[in-house]
Amino acid sequence: MLAISSSSSSSCSCSTATSLHPLTNYNASATPSLNPSSISFSSPCSYLSPLSFRLHSKTHRLRISQKPKGLRVRCSKNEPLKVMISGAPASGKGTQCELIVQKFGLVHVSTGDLLRAEVSAGSEIGNKAKEFMNAGRLVPDEIVTAMVTARLSCPDAKEKGWLLDGYPRSFAQAQSLEELNIRPDIYIALDVPDEILIDRCVGRRLDPVTGKIYHLKNFPPDSEEIKARLVTRADDTEEKVKSRLEIYKQNAAAIFSTYNSIMNKIDGNRPKDTVFKDIDSLLSQLQKDKTTKPVKPVLQTESRLDQAFSNQEKWRGIPTRLNNIPHSREIRNYFYDDVLQATQRAVNDGRTRLKVEINIPELNPEMDVYRIGTLMELVRVIALSFADDGKRVKVCVQGSMGQGALAGMPLQLAGTRKILEFMDWGNYGAMGTFINIGSIGAKEVGEEDDMFILVAPQNAVGNCIIDDLKAMTDAAGKRPVILINPRLKDLPGSSGIMQTMGRDKRLEYAASFESCYFFRLLYYAGTQYPIMGAIRMTYPYAYELYKRVDEPSGKEKYVPLSTFTERPTIDEINDAFIGKPRNKDKKASGFWGFLSGVF
Ligand code: AP5
Repeated sequence: MLAISSSSSSSCSCSTATSLHPLTNYNASATPSLNPSSISFSSPCSYLSPLSFRLHSKTHRLRISQKPKGLRVRCSKNEPLKVMISGAPASGKGTQCELIVQKFGLVHVSTGDLLRAEVSAGSEIGNKAKEFMNAGRLVPDEIVTAMVTARLSCPDAKEKGWLLDGYPRSFAQAQSLEELNIRPDIYIALDVPDEILIDRCVGRRLDPVTGKIYHLKNFPPDSEEIKARLVTRADDTEEKVKSRLEIYKQNAAAIFSTYNSIMNKIDGNRPKDTVFKDIDSLLSQLQKDKTTKPVKPVLQTESRLDQAFSNQEKWRGIPTRLNNIPHSREIRNYFYDDVLQATQRAVNDGRTRLKVEINIPELNPEMDVYRIGTLMELVRVIALSFADDGKRVKVCVQGSMGQGALAGMPLQLAGTRKILEFMDWGNYGAMGTFINIGSIGAKEVGEEDDMFILVAPQNAVGNCIIDDLKAMTDAAGKRPVILINPRLKDLPGSSGIMQTMGRDKRLEYAASFESCYFFRLLYYAGTQYPIMGAIRMTYPYAYELYKRVDEPSGKEKYVPLSTFTERPTIDEINDAFIGKPRNKDKKASGFWGFLSGVF
């Protein structure tokens, strides 16, 4: 048995134990008083014993993680996968973990399972945890955190990698892991509507012999014999599920803020194999990034992506000090990587008309034409990444438009093509093969091109780019066309009209490009200081609204306020900032009308 002491660290009973977390996160106000020094629980590495497999409901999953079946890819010993999976009660975490473990051989650490094992064993910790679990409440942090950190420090978890399920469940728990430098490579959040969750919980049945999870309607057992021995979890009544759901919602935003930069939300309201397909592709890609030695020439993105991963470790959310320009390389890499991942997801999903809109000071040539260099760097990252995947990418920037005295091009784009041509496109001959530079128009579309990245296409006074753009997209057919920071709003000439198709048609065409990345800082109207917050959307996920908060230490952070399935209106943003419930009929007004200028 392992005794948890109240001193700053204690040791694991497994041979390669690391120090445990100091018991600092106990929230005395939320839970009855416990004396940490008196708590003891089973040796963390013994949770895998066949005995507990027979005794406890879901421990089957733990056993599989010890002897992975059908493992197709393995992590390197130095870099095993570290995965966190989260979601509301009954969102399908356990179900997906079974599949993940079968394929990737990770050590599955489920706090629910660990606690249920303790309860079944009648241990001291189990007796203490039982009352909280049966009431649908969270077990005190001190108990759970010590269990998790002890389990993660066992040799098998270190060697094979881990899959953490059901932890962290509060901001304090997330911070505990951060303090101990225990960080996942990826955070998967399963998203399922409330009414479905309740039905799933109430219909859930567990097989105490095999540990398999069934559902009376969705996944009924194959035989009457199994059916007869199924048991219901004590916390699976409708009333308790509602309480668990409520607690989950109260904590979710704060936890998400810790893992925002590595968060992957997945629609869990689909058949379990479909859900797993998404997870599988994410983890396989991650594993490939960690372990594969490149077989084809390495373009520049590989080392940059490695760096981006380490940046993600560091940022854990939106980078701060965004008003200080020039931005550091780390900040730039954070955004390049964010845009890249969203764009790749969209293209992999077969989307063909895409736009990226990213408006941080460093990427805003309207403030300073020299910022076009940063925009070029972003374009290079995206183009090289697709080229790495074997696609022939044409990077296009519009040439001079109009004729005679009206001929010209937007100031921000002057010289851009030359910059693109002279840029360093890697030492492996990508330029001229996988990467080509072109202009905007139908004749730029060659048979060999796989996709097109258009740099800030925009209308100029009296000249409209849309005719050329439309001709180009028509010629591109089903091949992806990605607009980076387009500005397709009307800029009438002295005649007062755009010299092209009707306004409605222009707007309709501009709107046919789907947002795959959106990032905008929010300020008071007419100012650039201070930053009030930010909106971020990465395909295929929701728009996230953040508020920037100054901390007493002098640091700042971005706190998630709300999410929206569509780009939020000014009213919705205002309401979220002042904490009002959403009201669709309200008009933009007052002090918080500051955002009117933004949209
Ligand atoms: P825990 O066991 O972790 O419970 P939970 O988070 O509420 O999650 P569930 O196990 O209920 O659901 P699941 O997401 O695994 O879904 P499942 O795959 O089973 O924790 C229990 C308690 O322990 C907590 O309430 C708390 O008291 C305590 N605790 C745990 N961690 C703690 C922590 N860190 N801090 C403090 N306290 C902690 O699926 C559910 C049902 O849906 C099944 O019947 C399944 O067959 C069905 N189903 C699954 N996927 C699908 C699908 N795609 N379509 C249709 N049906 C599906």
